[in-house]
Order: sequence, then structure tokens, then C-alpha cells
Amino acid sequence: MFITDIELINFRNYKHLKTEFDQKVNIILGQNAQGKTNLLEGIYLTSIGRSFRTNHDSEMVKFGEEQAKIKLQAKKEILDTSIEIILRRDAKKSIKKDGVNVRKSSELLENILIVIFSPEDLKIVKDEPEKRRKFIDRELCQIQPLYYDSLYHYKKTLIQRNTYLKEENPDNSLLDLWDTQLAKYGAKIIHMREKFIRKISNFSGKIHGSITNRKESLFLEYNPNILYKEDKDEQEGYFYDEIKKAFRNDLRLRTTTRGPHKDDISFFVNGINMRSFGSQGQQRTCALSLKLAELNLIREETGEEAILLLDDVMSELDVERQEYLIKTLKENQIFITTADIDRQLLSSFPEAKLIQIENGTIAEV
Ligand SMILES: Nc1ncnc2c1ncn2[C@@H]1O[C@H](COP(=O)(O)OP(=O)(O)OP(=O)(O)O)[C@@H](O)[C@H]1O
Ligand SMILES: [Mg+2]
Repeated sequence: MFITDIELINFRNYKHLKTEFDQKVNIILGQNAQGKTNLLEGIYLTSIGRSFRTNHDSEMVKFGEEQAKIKLQAKKEILDTSIEIILRRDAKKSIKKDGVNVRKSSELLENILIVIFSPEDLKIVKDEPEKRRKFIDRELCQIQPLYYDSLYHYKKTLIQRNTYLKEENPDNSLLDLWDTQLAKYGAKIIHMREKFIRKISNFSGKIHGSITNRKESLFLEYNPNILYKEDKDEQEGYFYDEIKKAFRNDLRLRTTTRGPHKDDISFFVNGINMRSFGSQGQQRTCALSLKLAELNLIREETGEEAILLLDDVMSELDVERQEYLIKTLKENQIFITTADIDRQLLSSFPEAKLIQIENGTIAEV
């Protein structure tokens, strides 16, 4: 799977940009604030249906303009596919896939598989649990449509239950319905997360061992807020009982205190918890192993090679880590942004297409 070309109209700082991409390596060069990350955002948006930077689509419309349009063409094996998104300042975005309207952006999720790696991701081990949950959600949504569905229903019910808990004189006639729904979808989420983390731990363990020349062994542990039960029905029943037990406490705190919205993952290297005791270098290597594991997992689950976006991440890694990364990315189409012309990077990818960005336009290299 690879993206062949893109066209951006009034998207972020781009008035009009049209460019083709290399099937393998694309290096996007440019000084700060020229539009490198914006270009990656355009690619990500058309692949996944949403931005990795903002929840407000209108922010991506060029200042002073009413609407933006992004068109992307990709090749999946021998099939061509095209996506077109129109973002409007005052209305919802519209999406077309191969010329046909797409009602929900989630329908795009499995279309073009994409992994983004930015300096932000290097902090995943140390960041708040929410970042790690976002990571799980983002990945599982791409590889399992059922996960998206369960997460959507779970979150919707959670909002309803929390709104109820905040009311002055709560009418509890719907409480049991919400608890039943949370248990039903929450149990599914726990099961899918458990399986996902087991698999990704396996892949990242292998990669981590190889990056560190077997000096370090990495293991990821799932820390579900509601204990994992192997049997699906038992899981749902247990969830239901736990949420019922928590009711008094929930009412006092005016929020739902139990459920997968409180889950976390721990990273262990040689048995030591990296969040509390890892050195910065170790934490970064864990993050790198995790990202590369994502590509392996996508390959295993879908049979496809994901497209990798590396936003400013090369300069954050030491030479050894950079080399490892370059060496493993033989099969995937990659987009690398960089502010300084890094000779080492250019010589590692002699065939790469160089795209020099200056103030929202492509300059001659
Ligand atoms: N909606 C918008 N309309 C017009 N310009 C915008 C909009 N949103 C962001 N910009 C501008 O786009 C410019 C380029 O942003 P971008 O994040 O792509 O830079 P970059 O090339 O990745 O820089 P860096 O190397 O610092 O990461 C910024 O100066 C920003 O102010
Ligand atoms: Mg940038």
C-alpha cells in the first residue's frame, strides 16, 4: 500500500499544492514553520479521517478561507483508491472515497493504514495514562472495526452516565440501562485490549532485544481497571457487579470511577518498571520498539504494509537507533520530515524523493 499523490487546497498554510510521492521514501525538507508537519497532517487526515493534532477540523482551513480540500490517491496492490475531503469552517466535513460519499469518517479507518511517529510519542512511557490509552485506541481502531464500534458505544454511554451523576436531583431510571451497556461494551474493550497488548508486547520485546543487542528485554503489561477475566460472559457479569459496587463512590465523586477509561499499560525492562525507574534513553528505546511493533502487528493482522510518517523524529534519536530504524523500514512507504539537511539521513536513502517546502509551496531542491 502506498500513496501516489496529494493535492491540498486552502489547507493550513497551503494555498495550492500538488505533488507526487515516491513509492518508498519521501524526505520532506524545510526550515521551521514552512509546512512540513501540515503536509503529514494532510496525509494522515485523508487516510484516517481525522487529524493527529486537533479535534477541530476548522483549524485546518487556511486562515481567511471558508473551506479546504484535500485529495489523495493511493495504490493498494493493483487497485487505485482516491479520497477527497472537504473541510468547512462552519459545517461538518464531507468525505468521498472513490467518488462515493462516506457518511462516517470511521469508514475510512481500514482503508489506508498509517502509523505516525513524532517526538511526542517518544514520551509515551512517561506520559499520563491517557496518552497510552489513546495509543491503544488509535491502533485497535485501524485493525479492528469492532473495536471502534464498542469504543464508540462505551464512550457515549459513559458521557450519559457522567452527566447524570452531576445532576442535582438525579433521576436514576436509566442507571441500570447505562450500567448494562457499559458492562457489555466495556467487557469487549477489555478483551480486545488484552489480546492487543499481549501481541504488541511480543513484537516489541523482539525488536527491543535486537536494538539493545539482547542487553535489555522488554515486556508490556496490561493494567485493566476492571480485572481481566478470560471468559467473555464472566467478564461482562464481573464488570456489571463492579460498577454497581462503585455506585455510592461514583455519586459522591460525580463521575464514573471504574472501567476501561481508567486502564493503563506498564513497560518493564529486565523486570524494572520504566515509567518510574527507566532512564530517558531506555524510555525512548521502549517507545521506538513499540512503534516498530505496530508496523509488525498491522502486517500480521491485515496482511498490509502500513505507511509510516516520521515527523522530526530522526534528529531525536542517536545514530545507532536511527540506523536500526532505517534498516527495518525496507517494506513500508515512509515520509520523513526534517528541518536540517542531515547528510547521514540522505546517504541512508539515496533513492529518496526530496520535497523541499518553503512557506507552503514546493521549492526546487
Ligand atoms: N489554518 C491555518 N492557516 C494558515 N496557516 C496555518 C494554519 N494552521 C497553521 N498554520 C501555519 O503553518 C505554518 C507551518 O506549520 P508546520 O507545523 O507545518 O511547520 P513545520 O514546517 O512542521 O515546522 P517545524 O519544523 O517547526 O515543525 C505555521 O507557521 C502555522 O502558523
Ligand atoms: Mg513540524
